[in-house]
Amino acid sequence: MSATASSHDSLLELPLRDWRAPEAAALSAQALRALEQGQVLHFPHLGFALSPEERVLLDPKYTDPKRKNISLTPKGLAGTVAAGAARERVQGILQRYLDSTSALLDALFPGYRDARHGPATSLRLHAIGTWHPSWRKDDRLLHVDAFPSRPLHGERILRVFTNINPNGEPRTWRVGEPFETAARRYLPAMSKPWRPWLAGLMHRVGITKQRRTEYDHLMLQMHDAMKRDAHYQQQGDWAQVDFMPGSTWVCFSDQVSHAAMSGQFMLEQTWQLPLTALSYAELAPVRVLEKLKGRGLLAA
Ligand SMILES: [Fe+2]
Repeated sequence: MSATASSHDSLLELPLRDWRAPEAAALSAQALRALEQGQVLHFPHLGFALSPEERVLLDPKYTDPKRKNISLTPKGLAGTVAAGAARERVQGILQRYLDSTSALLDALFPGYRDARHGPATSLRLHAIGTWHPSWRKDDRLLHVDAFPSRPLHGERILRVFTNINPNGEPRTWRVGEPFETAARRYLPAMSKPWRPWLAGLMHRVGITKQRRTEYDHLMLQMHDAMKRDAHYQQQGDWAQVDFMPGSTWVCFSDQVSHAAMSGQFMLEQTWQLPLTALSYAELAPVRVLEKLKGRGLLAA
């Protein structure tokens, strides 16, 4: 079994058809290198099956109107107005997706197994473009992920996505240039100084869950600078990709420039991953930004 480079070199296609496929281990080294280098791993034949009773739940009305997603974390289920048996079925879908994606990640990336933490599983029922209260939250604009309230201190955002659209509609993404190229372009725009006292204050009053490091501060600026750059959004170096129903893709969303242009009904699994678990840590966004800045960015 072998993987194939796709027409766009930011994707690596992997032929797995089962979340627990024994062949995954043989693809491990190649998948790990591609993932950490900032490619999107694309599994065109890896879908997530829903029962007829579960398929009934593919309706935006089950999402809490104030929320973008239904989510399952170790704290429990949130973001849904489903009650009774429907609520149990929603939770069942999310738990099964967590189990399935965990099995896949463990086979492909055994070195991440004991390190990944902070799981969040999401069911997105809204069509893209119908839920984005501001440009900053409009994910149809190319960006790298950074969380305003959850500083990561250099840790990675590892995400698995599966298109579960029942009507044959793709989830269309744009995938942009390598992280270092984007970072070099936007560094001049990332000029807002990091103020340790402000980071401390924001943590104390509960705006952020931890203190922001200079790295977190830069990543938020990069996220905003990319989304604000209308020229790059229209004419930059990106490729459009249709992820069809019944397919899965995996990436480090803090590293891969991405935009979700259209589509509806998706499952998504997020993990946080410490730098120490990486095989090519020098490619991590924090190490790239430190190289370009010429200093450490993780001091408290
Ligand atoms: Fe994103």
